[in-house]
Amino acid sequence: MNIKKIGVFTSGGDAPGMNAAIRAVVRTAKYKGLEVTGIYRGYEGMMEADFVEMSRRSVSSIIQKGGTILKSARCLAFKTREGRQLAYDNLKKHGIDALVAIGGDGTFTGAHLFSQEFDIPVMCIPGTIDNDLYGTDYTLGYDTANNTVIEAIDKIRDTASSHSRVFFIEVMGRDSGCIALNAGVGGGAEAILLPEIDSGIDTLLEELSFAEEREKSSMIVVIAEGDQNGGAYNVAKRVKEKFGHFDIKVSILGHLQRGGAPSSFDRVLATRMGYNAVKELLKGNTRATVGLRGTEIITTPLEEALHSKEFKLDEELLEIANIMNK
Ligand code: F6P
Repeated sequence: MNIKKIGVFTSGGDAPGMNAAIRAVVRTAKYKGLEVTGIYRGYEGMMEADFVEMSRRSVSSIIQKGGTILKSARCLAFKTREGRQLAYDNLKKHGIDALVAIGGDGTFTGAHLFSQEFDIPVMCIPGTIDNDLYGTDYTLGYDTANNTVIEAIDKIRDTASSHSRVFFIEVMGRDSGCIALNAGVGGGAEAILLPEIDSGIDTLLEELSFAEEREKSSMIVVIAEGDQNGGAYNVAKRVKEKFGHFDIKVSILGHLQRGGAPSSFDRVLATRMGYNAVKELLKGNTRATVGLRGTEIITTPLEEALHSKEFKLDEELLEIANIMNK
């Protein structure tokens, strides 16, 4: 198929680096002589024809910005056949003949189905702070979010050690413990609780008891939002029941983890991914995602990316975490 106009959009939870990816898609496409349409608010904007024509200049000075200039949404209506038909009709009307979708799992699922139903070429770029997508070692925004969390842990540790307190810090990740594990190790946490591992509260109690025996006067426990014990407040309550003498505080980091200027790693990765997404589309590759394996940019069919049950947590890092907190 001869592609003349690419539509680019961001969808699902925003992530630092999405703007850098948009910029790379637009500039690569322009360089290759294509037109580019920005689609606002992901699939929602596609269904409402909320489009903007993009030029090299329209993506000036965005590489350093968090969020997404194209805005984002989680769209239920696109899950219906009528919704997708509406979106397709709008793309046709505006001459958009290929798509670059930037987002996470839900974005990929929508892109896969849409591309199959309407035979429209699509390339995905993994953008989510959760790092929970198969087909890439790193998703856009994950590195920046980790840096944000580690900075927060460092600051909390200052006050925790000044007051000899035990802090429960909840980080994002409804289904993914990647941030909790990585930032927990990087921030020197005494314990880390993850959605993927049902370690139970007793293990944590043992760990804290052990830390107390070694006369640790302050402690940091990092908990992923989706941990199986019900989140930081619940865990703190259970710990207080056993260790009534602990001075316990809870800190939920929340959406501040999603914002901020992308790290240098995320900017360069986004630029490489954006460039390769356009290049692959022009080569005839479709229904796939770009990703980073080691130092190489690769592509993986969406079929495979969406159905793999690969365990994303780094098992060695899990073991390291258990050694470092002793
Ligand atoms: O998928 C990214 C993420 O930040 C998750 O870590 C978190 O559970 C979720 O999005 C929060 O979504 P929302 O911003 O819609 O509340």
